[in-house]
Amino acid sequence: MNSLAGKVAVITGGASGIGAATARLFAAAGAKVVIGDLQDGSAVAKEIGGLYVAMDVRKSDEVRALVERAAREHGRLDVLFNNAGIEIHAGLADTDDELHRNLIDINVNGVFYGLRWGGAVMLRQPGPTRGSIINTASIAGLIGAPGLSSYDASKHAVVGLSKTAALEYGAAGIRVNAVCPGVIRTPMLTSLSDRADLEPILAQMHALKRVGEPEEVAQLVCFLASDDASFVTGQAIAVDGGLTAGIPATGPLPTS
Ligand code: NAI
Repeated sequence: MNSLAGKVAVITGGASGIGAATARLFAAAGAKVVIGDLQDGSAVAKEIGGLYVAMDVRKSDEVRALVERAAREHGRLDVLFNNAGIEIHAGLADTDDELHRNLIDINVNGVFYGLRWGGAVMLRQPGPTRGSIINTASIAGLIGAPGLSSYDASKHAVVGLSKTAALEYGAAGIRVNAVCPGVIRTPMLTSLSDRADLEPILAQMHALKRVGEPEEVAQLVCFLASDDASFVTGQAIAVDGGLTAGIPATGPLPTS
């Protein structure tokens, strides 16, 4: 495990799924963890001896208050994981404008506010290394995905924002990266459909022929948060069981 001993970390969307798995791993790695989430994250916070703050990433002032509070209570902010997000499934022609705007508000603007206010806190700290920001994008931030046009637009935006923030903050010693998970078994996935056969179908898209677990994403986030990733910035790194490696090995041609 990469060490986060003594580091102060804020995680948005830390009440569930990838965020909760990362909160647990961060705490095990020695970090003090502050969870910001719209839904109640007090159980996860209690479990890891952390703090839960009720907040909405769509609101700039609430994102600002979250990172300021973490810095006030613990003296600094070393790691910010901008992870809160939602998904909607609809073809382009059928996408509801209001749902689309809400998704962009959470998935893009929420990350923008995190980069803005989290960066501001880190810039105030003594250097030369001031912090690490990790944003949850998706494989939908790297490739197209039919039926996910709003989501795909939002995650491509997260990748672009991450690269630009890395360039803006790099000279100040703040690293910024995006993680791009494949299909991960979280409430987001299970809420998609009650079809029992969905997961095996999605599993086939991955080279490893299975979906991922939130803990497997958390391991990459923990590496990026740690000093072991001291020369890694401006990257969009897939943790996708090979989903974006190419065409899956299926069909009539010999594959082994
Ligand atoms: P999840 O639904 O388990 O967790 C998302 C968390 O974000 C929830 O706790 C939710 O309350 C919180 N959240 C939603 N809107 C919020 C708001 N306005 N303000 C504050 N918190 C809010 O889902 P999961 O899968 O853990 O998703 C985490 C991130 O991973 C998301 O950004 C998602 O797009 C991304 N992702 C998920 C994948 C998957 O297959 N599960 C694949 C690729 C990316």
